[in-house]
Parts: sequence; C-alpha cells; structure tokens
Amino acid sequence: MEVTLIAGEMVVHASVPSGKSTGSHEALELRDADGGMETAIANVEGEIAALITSREWSSADEIDTALIALDGTPNKSRLGANAVLGVSIAAQRLFAEAAGVPLWKAIAERGGFSAAAPRLYLNFMNGGEHADFRLPFQEYIFVVGGKTSEAYAIAQDAFAKLGTVLKSNFNTEIPMGDEGGYSPKFDDIEKPFEMLAALVAEHSGTSIAIDAAANALRNDIGGYTLTGKDYTPDELRALYAGLIKKFPFHSIEDPFAETAMGDFAKLTAEAGEVIIVGDDLTVTNPERIKTAREAKAITAVLIKPNQIGSVKEAIEAVQMTRAAGWAAICSHRSGETDDTFIADFAYGIGAHGIKAGGLGQKERREKYERLVEIEKGAEAV
Ligand code: PGA
Ligand code: ZN
Repeated sequence: MEVTLIAGEMVVHASVPSGKSTGSHEALELRDADGGMETAIANVEGEIAALITSREWSSADEIDTALIALDGTPNKSRLGANAVLGVSIAAQRLFAEAAGVPLWKAIAERGGFSAAAPRLYLNFMNGGEHADFRLPFQEYIFVVGGKTSEAYAIAQDAFAKLGTVLKSNFNTEIPMGDEGGYSPKFDDIEKPFEMLAALVAEHSGTSIAIDAAANALRNDIGGYTLTGKDYTPDELRALYAGLIKKFPFHSIEDPFAETAMGDFAKLTAEAGEVIIVGDDLTVTNPERIKTAREAKAITAVLIKPNQIGSVKEAIEAVQMTRAAGWAAICSHRSGETDDTFIADFAYGIGAHGIKAGGLGQKERREKYERLVEIEKGAEAV
C-alpha cells in the first residue's frame, strides 16, 4: 500500500509493509478476496481523503486522532490498518518537512524521546515460515552495537563470510529466505548457533539473537515441534536455557506461543542478562504491553507500526514499553517496501535495536543504509 500526500508545494510518499507470521491480535490489514488492496485503496481515496481535505491540520498527531476516530474499530478493521498507517506515516513526513527537520527528529520531538542509534539486528539465517522450515526458528540474528557506519561494515563482512562458509559446507549456492538471509537446511539445532558464534568471536561488541516465532512451532498436543521432535513447554524452556549457556546470546523473541504468557514469565525469570522479547505476544498494542507488564512476561517489546496501524499508537506503545522499564526494538516486516520510515522511527525513539533483515535483499539493506545516512547528518549538526 503506497500513499501520496500533497500540501501546496510539498509532495510526500509512504508505503506500508506486510507480515507473513502475524500475531492474531494485530490490527487488520485489509485485503480483497483475491489478496489485492482495492478496497483499502478506495478507503484512502474516498473517506480518508475527504477527511484530510475537509479542514486545516496543525500536527500529524491531530491527523492520527481523527483517522482513528474515523475508523472507529479497535483494530482498524473498517478502513484497514494498511490504509490508515499509510496516511499516518505520510502525515508525519509532511509535518517534518514543513518544520524543516529530519523525520527522525520530528518523531523524537513528538514522543519526547532521546534520539540515538539502535543496535543492528541482522537476520543472517532465515527459517520457520520465512524459509519453509528448513531451520526451525524463524530468525538467526547477528547483533552489532556501536557506531552505525562501523557496525554496518562489520555486518557486511560477517554476512559475506557466512555465505562463503555455508557454500563450502554444502558445496552449492545457499537459497535466500524471505528476509534476505541465508536459508540452509540443518537438522542439528545447534549448528546455526555454532556458525554465528564463530562470527561473534571475530568481532567484539557482537552477539546472537533469535526470533523463534513459536506460534508457528505449535503442535496439536499442547507443545511445540522442532525439526520433527516434540517438546513440552518446559522442555522447550530447557532447550533455550541450554542454548543461552552455551552461546553468546543477547535476546530471544517469541520463545513461546502468543497465548503462553506464563511460559514467557518463567523464561524471563531465569534468563539473566538475556533479553526476552514479545512480538506476537504484544503486537505493538499498549493494552497488551500493559498485560505483559503485570505478568512480568518479557523484558523487551518489538515495535512494528503496522501491527497497531498508526504512528500515534506506535509511539504510545514505545512509551508504555519504557514505563515498564523495558527495551524497545523496532522491526520491519517480512514483506517490505523501499520505504525507510522504520529506520527513522528507530533512531528517533532511541531504540535498543532495529530488525531489518539480512543483507541479501535491497529493501533490507536500505534500512541500514538510511541509519548510516542519519548518523552522518546528525554528526554534521
Ligand atoms: P513477519 O516476521 O513480518 O512475517 O511477522 C517478522 C517477525 O516475526 O518479527
Ligand atoms: Zn517476530
């Protein structure tokens, strides 16, 4: 979904990504029966355009409030989160441009955040639903902190090296998964971690993360199935505990299904320094983050604006996350566009990290490259 907003001389565009492994509580992405977005587009060109052109607006926040009221549902199911968010992002861009400030700065000011460079979470190996389950977990992530330009250079070097190692291991070219990471097939659960740990050993300030995306690992006997083997929730927790002990882990996202709040809390209690992240569990929804807070279920929240459907509510989700004393990690979606809004958002809120995929696809690299560009601009100020 792409939206163009015009005000006088100013023309801005925004495009909204789409997720494949979605949580059941996400805002609704409005699709036609054939998968198209004609209805959502008609909503933007019809009702939403009529609202936007009906009066003058003094802030992007005012526009978001009106859009949320116009939709009138708790999950944007009438107009579609894709329609509402497209206009919401375009409005944020327009007001930043009108004020003559970079997008990230307008977001920082809007939410009262201290802008800062996020750690890069690069999805080096894709599994789960993003790669026909050739690997059990959805994302095997190389985490790099520090100055973005240097972190990105380290990531490029490590990603190329992993490609060479995998190619010589399998004696053939390795396919790419949905998010621009390698997608080898290993039946040994620890093998991908051994490979990532070898890269981590070469670069200080780097570590390992996973997104287990465990909703997709559920079996019908109340547990989880990974590479053909069944695990009870307790056994899966023991598997994570073993991995954490053996490998240089930074964080684990969605270790259990979105309904298993108690299992999240148990793992969080025993994970020590390792951060436990909610994605499908919390779906960028301030109410669900509040519930997770009461359960002490996690220590970080994944922030995806299209899970909630407006910039305003995504900012509120970050504020709720920070009020809980937790880290906010911003994320792209598996179906991305060349819009780099999420990079500005991550920098503007001073996120703990940004997940923007592997380096094998242009629309993933563009997010990291935008962060390098922001760093240069911020240094010049
Ligand atoms: P999705 O994957 O965009 O397919 O939901 C990303 C994630 O689960 O973090
Ligand atoms: Zn996830």
